[in-house]
Amino acid sequence: MKKRRLPDLFYNPISMAGAIVSVVTFGTILILMVIDLIWNTLPAYFGIVTYVLFPSVLVLALLVIPIGALIERKRYREAAEQGISPLPKIDLNDQRQRRAFFIFSTGTLLLMVFTAIGSYRAFDFTESVTFCGQICHKVMAPEYTTYQHSPHARVACVQCHVGSGASWYVKSKLSGAYQVYAVLFNKFPRPIPTPISNLRPARETCEQCHWPQSFVGERRVTKAYYLEDSANTRWDLDMLIRIGKSTSGEAQRPPVHWHVTHTVEFLASDSASQTIPWVRVVDANGKTETFTTDDNPFTPDSVKHLKVKTMDCMDCHNRPTHIVKSPGAAVNDAMASGAISPTLPWIKQTAVNALVPRYINTKDALDSIALYVESFYKDKYPTVASTRSTDINNAVSELQTIYKNNFFPYMRADWRAYPTDIGHQEFPGCFRCHDGNHKSADGKVIPHGCTTCHLILSQGTKPDSTVNLNGVAFVHPPAGIGDSWKDGSCTDCHDGTQ
Ligand code: HEC
Ligand code: HEC
Ligand code: HEC
Ligand code: HEC
Ligand code: HEC
Ligand code: HEC
Repeated sequence: MKKRRLPDLFYNPISMAGAIVSVVTFGTILILMVIDLIWNTLPAYFGIVTYVLFPSVLVLALLVIPIGALIERKRYREAAEQGISPLPKIDLNDQRQRRAFFIFSTGTLLLMVFTAIGSYRAFDFTESVTFCGQICHKVMAPEYTTYQHSPHARVACVQCHVGSGASWYVKSKLSGAYQVYAVLFNKFPRPIPTPISNLRPARETCEQCHWPQSFVGERRVTKAYYLEDSANTRWDLDMLIRIGKSTSGEAQRPPVHWHVTHTVEFLASDSASQTIPWVRVVDANGKTETFTTDDNPFTPDSVKHLKVKTMDCMDCHNRPTHIVKSPGAAVNDAMASGAISPTLPWIKQTAVNALVPRYINTKDALDSIALYVESFYKDKYPTVASTRSTDINNAVSELQTIYKNNFFPYMRADWRAYPTDIGHQEFPGCFRCHDGNHKSADGKVIPHGCTTCHLILSQGTKPDSTVNLNGVAFVHPPAGIGDSWKDGSCTDCHDGTQ
């Protein structure tokens, strides 16, 4: 028999198998790490295999070696009955034991170095946009796609969702582990409900990059709408929204970011915070003022036991990066940019109608959109269909792009699933509180007047000739509704399909 170089205990089938698997996986990891260093842009699954899967196998295999030895030892003891002490004796004067000791200590040292590099890479990788956005690409498609077309496309997912610090890292990986399970066993909700319950407070994420305390002056918001008539009449709106301290020096009303420089608390009666019947303002001295609606279900007693939410950035900017456009807004933007020609008769209405139905999958949607638009012109405007086929084709392909970027049938995710809280036309937004129905005990109302938040500089079909820096009263675009827009909320008639 060949001379054994290590203590006999290790020469058992279990330890040997563990050793062989360890060496093979360790070698594979080394090769994969080299490949990763050389090629920077490898598929998403590569990172999972290199930094998560193989290292887990390696650790298990390494554990199997001493376990095998322990089992072997138990067998020895049972056979010899006596003479073998309960714990192993290490005798460095024995050449075989010395060799074993040497192999194990250098092995451990090497392993520690590689584990350090490996864990750093694993940390890096699990924090990457690839990991968050692409590993479960079908599930994350709505969030990842919308993110790529947003002002935050260069901000990593984790900068908003995890932030810095070890405890949030661990928290997010634990919930991530559950999410992997949910995806593997098809147990995830579709669409993913919003808001996610464990999103980190804005103080520690958004405010790393934005300081509303230092915002100054107004932001200009310009919009171009196209009405649903044969000429797709264009209607412009140009307004200022004060986001910070006044620049003119005169005493003015507070800016929109007043809510985060002061303390505003609220309770919602639904999970997506779309209905807010109870609002409380706490001033610097701790004095409070509570505003409620007539159908407020919360009593002063029940409020004490509920988790009152303090308003932060995400209570208005809930879609700063996952921007899901409604058909109406998407088509208005595409027409304003010229991607859809506004001179095609009835194109606004036709385009919106093509986007609204719930299609079963993306392929079906893209085909149906093309069919709908093309047959509209073939049937109703045959001459337009033949003379302007390029414009029609461009409109179709632009609508298909809009669909791919904003509609995710597999996840049942589109604008209907994800309300936006900035504004008030398509979703309740600011009017969740500023609807004129939130009153305090002494009759004070959260302001609802149209000049509370914005100053309209110009509007209508010929906007540039009528700019007025003192602001003009809102005129609702001609829609045959007279003054009835004043009676309720905009959302009584608008739902993103205009
Ligand atoms: C600029 C900050 C920011 C970035 C960057 C960001 N998110 Fe989000 N994410 C949010 C906010 C805010 C919400 C919604 C919370 C709410 O509705 O209150 C959200 C919601 C989500 C949701 C819940 C479902 C939904 O659509 O509301 C998922 C899933 C998600 N994000 C994944 C991602 C992924 C994956 C990335 C990177 C590709 C990413 N996020 C990047 C801010 C961000
Ligand atoms: C890592 C830095 C970073 C973080 C974190 C971050 N943002 Fe931003 N944000 C940016 C950058 C960069 C821009 C783009 C500025 C530009 O285009 O002028 C931006 C733009 C914006 C805008 C203006 C968008 C527009 O239409 O012009 C808003 C609103 C905004 N962020 C809100 C948020 C909110 C809310 C959060 C937290 C959920 C957040 N940001 C987190 C860096 C960040
Ligand atoms: C009460 C609602 C509300 C809250 C809360 C709020 N914002 Fe805003 N924010 C607005 C509105 C309205 C605008 C104007 C732009 C618009 O209408 O799209 C704006 C504009 C911005 C802009 C663009 C500024 C620019 O120069 O154009 C940034 C960045 C921003 N907010 C960040 C934040 C951050 C960060 C927080 C949290 C600390 C926050 N906001 C809290 C309503 C809010
Ligand atoms: C959770 C409830 C809530 C939401 C949502 C909300 N606000 Fe407010 N807002 C308040 C309260 C409360 C006040 C203070 C009322 C008071 O004391 O006069 C206020 C005051 C303001 C003021 C100062 C008004 C003044 O003249 O004193 C502005 C501007 C404003 N909000 C804009 C907005 C905008 C824009 C949005 C949507 C993007 C919004 N708010 C969403 C609760 C809310
Ligand atoms: C509490 C603040 C607030 C009040 C009150 C308010 N608005 Fe607005 N309004 C906003 C904000 C914020 C936006 C969104 C700007 C943006 O899209 O960036 C907006 C957008 C609009 C738009 C453009 C619609 C869109 O989303 O394209 C119109 C039109 C408008 N407001 C009219 C009115 C009228 C009319 C009133 C009075 C009944 C009113 N607003 C009251 C805050 C307010
Ligand atoms: C009684 C129903 C009703 C109410 C309430 C109403 N609208 Fe409208 N609105 C319409 C109709 C109908 C159209 C016309 C659609 C078309 O021809 O494109 C329209 C068109 C518009 C348009 C231009 C079309 C577009 O692409 O968006 C804007 C902007 C608009 N409304 C803003 C508002 C705002 C802001 C409010 C709340 C202050 C409001 N509306 C309340 C019925 C209403």
